[in-house]
Amino acid sequence: MNKIIVQGLKYKYPLSDMLALDDISFQVNEGEFIGIIGKNSSGKSTLCQALVGLVPHFYKGAYGGKVLVAGLEVKNHSLADISLKVGMVFQNPFTQVTGSKMTVYEEIAFGLENIGVPRKEMIDRIDDVLTLLKIEHVKDHNPFDLSGGQMQRMAIASIIAMKPDILVLDEPTSQLDPAGSEEVFNAIQSLSKQGITVILAEHKMEKVAQYCDRVLLLNDGRVVDVATPEIIFSRDDLETYGVLAPVYTRVCRALGVKKDGSDCYPVTLEAAERVLRKGVPLV
Ligand SMILES: Nc1ncnc2c1ncn2[C@@H]1O[C@H](COP(=O)(O)OP(=O)(O)OP(=O)(O)O)[C@@H](O)[C@H]1O
Ligand SMILES: [Mg+2]
Repeated sequence: MNKIIVQGLKYKYPLSDMLALDDISFQVNEGEFIGIIGKNSSGKSTLCQALVGLVPHFYKGAYGGKVLVAGLEVKNHSLADISLKVGMVFQNPFTQVTGSKMTVYEEIAFGLENIGVPRKEMIDRIDDVLTLLKIEHVKDHNPFDLSGGQMQRMAIASIIAMKPDILVLDEPTSQLDPAGSEEVFNAIQSLSKQGITVILAEHKMEKVAQYCDRVLLLNDGRVVDVATPEIIFSRDDLETYGVLAPVYTRVCRALGVKKDGSDCYPVTLEAAERVLRKGVPLV
């Protein structure tokens, strides 16, 4: 079943004379994990905002085409309705903090209170997300006293606690160190395995290769390609779009080693190791 349908989406920010999104079309199945990649200013964040309805409800401007998420056409539904189905974690976690809550615990509870989750269930959900994101130890801290990484985890926890059908994540680990990023990606993957549809805008290509089922490559607001990580990262013209394939792919390409029975290069460490252990042909 299609969880997301985007058809001919065009969008221009107010006062801008360039389309930020130019005739975007793609579909996402229920439970899929999709990566959005592209150089700076290619439109990744704008597309995420269009999926949660901030474009066009908050960011006005010129809008055309159709975006359907979990059966709702975002143009015709309020942000409040859409937010019951789709949760978004922003590129900058500071923009996500309410600013009115004294503790991390209250911050996470805020969204749940708004949608009327019963008290017992609220406590269970908050305990679960504090554990999942490994932030139990800061639950009584003031949100503004957190490190960037802790704040990013809190922002993700607040959204996950709402149990959205669709999770949109815009560079969710930009503030995290490698170990913290790995933990957050594992948490996101476990949600994906539970059937949540995940859309992830990301610059860390090794992570995209490791976790995403399919990848959407954007350039200047247009879709260049939507395909598996192997197909996208094996494109000869990838660097012309300002994107570098994962290092494992680049090593295998330099050695001329493709995946067994495929025309693509390996994109993960495990896949590269598998073909390289078989012996590298002399070139
Ligand atoms: N609030 C805004 N008002 C006007 N123009 C904007 C606004 N936000 C983004 N843009 C423009 O829209 C285009 C797409 O920007 P967007 O932030 O979606 O790119 P991005 O791919 O997320 O970039 P990055 O990798 O830097 O996060 C850019 O040309 C940008 O300057
Ligand atoms: Mg962005």
